[in-house]
Amino acid sequence: MVMKHFLPTGDELIIRPPLISDAAGLLSNFQRMTRESEFLLFTPTESLDLDLTSEEEFIQSYLDNPNQLLLLATVKGQIVGSVNVNHSGFRKKKHIAEMGISVESKWQNMGIGRRLITSMLRWAEEQPELNIITLNVFSSNEKALQLYRNFGFLECGRIPNGIQQLNGRYTDLITMYRNIKPLV
Ligand SMILES: CC(C)(COP(=O)(O)OP(=O)(O)OC[C@H]1O[C@@H](n2cnc3c(N)ncnc32)[C@H](O)[C@@H]1OP(=O)(O)O)[C@@H](O)C(=O)NCCC(=O)NCCS
Repeated sequence: MVMKHFLPTGDELIIRPPLISDAAGLLSNFQRMTRESEFLLFTPTESLDLDLTSEEEFIQSYLDNPNQLLLLATVKGQIVGSVNVNHSGFRKKKHIAEMGISVESKWQNMGIGRRLITSMLRWAEEQPELNIITLNVFSSNEKALQLYRNFGFLECGRIPNGIQQLNGRYTDLITMYRNIKPLV
């Protein structure tokens, strides 16, 4: 599953599954993301606990498990974003999985987030046992909320003050879901 698009800058965007050799690039992408975005669960300090070995294991876990998905967005050979879908591992939740997404700020507002979600949904529709995708998003993250609503995700839960930002302020933690296909 490799998708190619042109960005408004004229650069080519490639959306593709990861290779183990992406570990270093994915780690630096993630550590950059935790420094520039207040909307991720990981803090920059927490992201420093990750290293090349843990990142290789992270990628390997997706390669080993066809029920889970990791897709990378690359521009000029550099990883600029990703989307992932994870199962809890519980038999009783095998029809439900949780997604996460990020795009580096320099490359935001060019449709990369939209294309990552489109590719993710295309994959999800082909998974015979997957019926529901969920996600968690901070209520202050207007852009992500709008992106998810554009794809038909609906809010189904909210923990008031469920997140404390590093500046000490609290924000609600919202859960959204989207049905992928009817239950059998
Ligand atoms: C959320 C995120 C993935 C979006 O990626 P992106 O590549 O910028 O997304 P797109 O360019 O495809 O734009 C997505 C939509 O956001 C909406 N949007 C853009 N700017 C917005 C703003 N200021 N306010 C509200 N909505 C906005 C638009 O509806 C746009 O859709 P459209 O282009 O079809 O109109 C990206 O901003 C990001 O990684 N942020 C930091 C990490 C994060 O928040 N991850 C999600 C955690 S739940």
